[in-house]
Amino acid sequence: MVLKIGTVFIEDPVILAPMSGITDLPFRDLVKSFGAGLVVSEMVASTAVIEANKRTKKMLEFRKSGSPISIQLMGRDPGTMAEAAMLCQDLGADIIDINFGCPAKKVVSGAAGSALMREEPLARKIMHAVVKAVGIPVTIKMRTGWDINKRNAPELAKIAEDIGIQLVTVHGRTRCQFYDGASDWKFIGAIKNAIKIPVIGNGDITQVEDAKTLQQTAHTDGVMIGRGAQGRPWFLAHVIHFLKTGERLARPSSTFQLNIALRHFDSMLSYYGVKRGIRIARKHLNWYTAGCYSYDMYKDQLLKSDDPQQIRTSLSELFHLELDVPRSNTAFV
Ligand SMILES: Cc1cc2nc3c(=O)[nH]c(=O)nc-3n(C[C@H](O)[C@H](O)[C@H](O)COP(=O)(O)O)c2cc1C
Repeated sequence: MVLKIGTVFIEDPVILAPMSGITDLPFRDLVKSFGAGLVVSEMVASTAVIEANKRTKKMLEFRKSGSPISIQLMGRDPGTMAEAAMLCQDLGADIIDINFGCPAKKVVSGAAGSALMREEPLARKIMHAVVKAVGIPVTIKMRTGWDINKRNAPELAKIAEDIGIQLVTVHGRTRCQFYDGASDWKFIGAIKNAIKIPVIGNGDITQVEDAKTLQQTAHTDGVMIGRGAQGRPWFLAHVIHFLKTGERLARPSSTFQLNIALRHFDSMLSYYGVKRGIRIARKHLNWYTAGCYSYDMYKDQLLKSDDPQQIRTSLSELFHLELDVPRSNTAFV
């Protein structure tokens, strides 16, 4: 199924979620190389885009990653958000996404992210300013509301639609839930019913079947996957395959997983430099290997070493040991 967002066509609407500190260029490229309808950048503060400090410049190096690419902006000043959106457009973004969902205390205490769901008039002004400023499609990503007593996502979605926002993604939890409980896919369906523009459902897709269940429950136009892709950059491609064919692909072989982990590791080192690259790579290496039988034996060498060659060797040994032993958690493919 092709999803059209303004001028952008998304071949398979299975989307990689924005994840701060995770969906950087090396990870987005890797996920995209297997197959994903769209990848979204980590959230970028609108003020930082304008100041363009060194770290933000790195986050905005997105032209190399396959199209389409959506850049997510976070902030609460309509003028600054509009200016940042224009800069991202000039840098080659295909879509601008506005963050109305981040629950982090650091963001919420600055009254941005999910805090804006409590300030509908300001959220309206931000959306209006960004839509007016750019020619590319503007989308929003939000939670169901601030807390269980104020789940105003359907109202905010309607405001968004009236302003010219072209797609709404909903993570089916409130801000106050953080990641507790379950994503409420039924409530995502209520948002879908409230508007005519496309809705993407998000939250708790960890098995290929989950994507189908979410779509059947909420009748969404696509799904977004975050944590389910950690350590499994092929997972979105498996979801796309399942939605098209009903066939559940097997977890890739250990040799394949090793090659992917090594490829990802090397791309992080060349993108960030060796020292920072190793630091950033550790969480990914942990995700790649946490379910392996000899994980405990290699954990320290993998996650504490500063020597790239030692890390590569440990990874290889660990995955080669996997070859001889059947995995117990084959359900988690
Ligand atoms: C480490 C981490 C960082 C995240 N960063 C962002 C972000 O920058 N912007 C955003 O809109 N959501 C962010 N999220 C939320 C995800 O995009 C997604 O909505 C959430 O994880 C639920 O989906 P999942 O169950 O598929 O992971 C983040 C989530 C995690 C776990």
